[in-house]
Amino acid sequence: MKRIVIFASGSGSNAENIISFFREKPDVAVAAVLTNKSSAKVLERCDRLGIPAFYFNKPAFKNSDAVVNFLKGLNTDLIVLAGFLWKIPSHLIDAFPNKIINIHPALLPKYGGKGMYGDKVHQAVKDNKETETGITIHYVNENYDEGAIIFQAKTDVIPSDDANSIAQKVHQLEYEHFPQVIEKLLS
Ligand code: GRF
Repeated sequence: MKRIVIFASGSGSNAENIISFFREKPDVAVAAVLTNKSSAKVLERCDRLGIPAFYFNKPAFKNSDAVVNFLKGLNTDLIVLAGFLWKIPSHLIDAFPNKIINIHPALLPKYGGKGMYGDKVHQAVKDNKETETGITIHYVNENYDEGAIIFQAKTDVIPSDDANSIAQKVHQLEYEHFPQVIEKLLS
């Protein structure tokens, strides 16, 4: 049995989608969800889905081994960042080499880096009159959105799209592909 831990800071619709996907699979379990935001909607989802969820603050995350020890204690095989906004500290990356992945809502290397998240990404895609956007699933290194790319998928952007409709298209791609990419990585 392979064990995933999801990190999420916000709504957690990807987290829920991943949890639901692996409920049907005997070989993979979502062991827990971790968040840095005690008011994150993802916590309500975990409650409803019966998934253990835990909160950590910045000192515990950045300046201690608390999170690493916790993840080791869960026998974590893969850490999945799904809308998690803090930079991952190097001691955590070193403790889980090539075992931390992130999903970014654009076609990296475009529209990545510090401060590029959520609607800011989709608005920038709109403002630059891009004709396509998409998702990037990548390994996490010490720089925002710069680790090796594992998978990308594209969707069209048409002139009548706004940041909202672009976000919806991108979310559809995320729901369709993220669980399957995780499954492949674990097989
Ligand atoms: C997703 O668009 C993901 O690509 C990005 O953050 C968003 C999270 O959405 N990293 P949700 O919380 O899963 O609904």
